[in-house]
Amino acid sequence: MAMFETVCEGLIAQRVERNDLVVALGGGVVGDLAGFAASAVRRGLDFVQVPTTLLAQVDSSVGGKTGINSRHGKNLIGAFHQPVLVIADTALLDSLPPRVFRAGYAEVAKFGLLGDAAFFSWLEANWQDVFSGAPAREHAIAVCCRGKAGIVARDERETGERALLNLGHTFGHAFEAAAGYSDRLMHGEAVALGMALAFEFSARKGLAAAAEAERVSRHLAAVGLPAHVRDIAGTVPDADHLMDLIAQDKKVKRGKLTFILVRGIGSAFVAPDVDPAEVRVFLAEKLNER
Ligand SMILES: NC(=O)c1ccc[n+]([C@@H]2O[C@H](COP(=O)([O-])OP(=O)(O)OC[C@H]3O[C@@H](n4cnc5c(N)ncnc54)[C@H](O)[C@@H]3O)[C@@H](O)[C@H]2O)c1
Ligand SMILES: [Zn+2]
Repeated sequence: MAMFETVCEGLIAQRVERNDLVVALGGGVVGDLAGFAASAVRRGLDFVQVPTTLLAQVDSSVGGKTGINSRHGKNLIGAFHQPVLVIADTALLDSLPPRVFRAGYAEVAKFGLLGDAAFFSWLEANWQDVFSGAPAREHAIAVCCRGKAGIVARDERETGERALLNLGHTFGHAFEAAAGYSDRLMHGEAVALGMALAFEFSARKGLAAAAEAERVSRHLAAVGLPAHVRDIAGTVPDADHLMDLIAQDKKVKRGKLTFILVRGIGSAFVAPDVDPAEVRVFLAEKLNER
């Protein structure tokens, strides 16, 4: 919030005008913040996304969701504000610390897991080339951008299909908030854990085969992402605290939670009627495995 004020005041001090252009050069945090400032200053300035992290190139720079975190939860203050242009220079990724690249890879895997089983299989075979920067990296980024742009074009305001992009994010945001949005747990790492849990929870409910959930955890672990609660460093909150965080993140509607669940790899769906008590029991068990 303080940084949002600084950026807005900075733009105004520069005497920015309605026909000026804001350029968001950086990772997802800069893109979300600059985009939100652009949406608000003078009631809306055009802006360009120049994403410099893998996560931002495959996900956050596309689709026009901008915003900042509230003390009460992730992304609670924001706006839909489409960039007029996105320029993803994949050579910028060469300077990323390995951990940051890996965290971004979680959102790459997400595109396979939510709707493109063939892409996930391709990633299982080619992830090392994606990491090392071969043409495989550009291919993966293009697949994700095309996939996301298609979803957003069909459902910009998230009344349906776009919600699938939140696969792993309900569990993930709770762990991310619990870690205080600190470098203890990066967004992508939290999403990796969240996706593994979403698959396990779906398997538990008999919606997906247990072998599919294991395949997901195995791939995430192979690339070095957290796939189990025990992979998270430091203290982890108890199930009640996690449920409070989940309730803040996802509005509880008539006592039910909306989750993105799966019937298998590549087939995520919106489940609007998940019983919080069932989630709580599941989380308590997972925390016990620590
Ligand atoms: N708006 C959306 O639709 C959307 C989608 C997914 C994620 N997000 C948000 O994106 C954020 C995460 O973004 P992120 O993973 O890019 O994190 P980030 O923006 O914090 O960047 C990670 C780190 O990499 C550094 N960095 C950036 N580019 C670099 C480069 N080229 N070389 C070296 N270092 C570089 C940054 O300074 C930072 O320390 C989260 O807050 C998440 O909520 C938004
Ligand atoms: Zn995300």
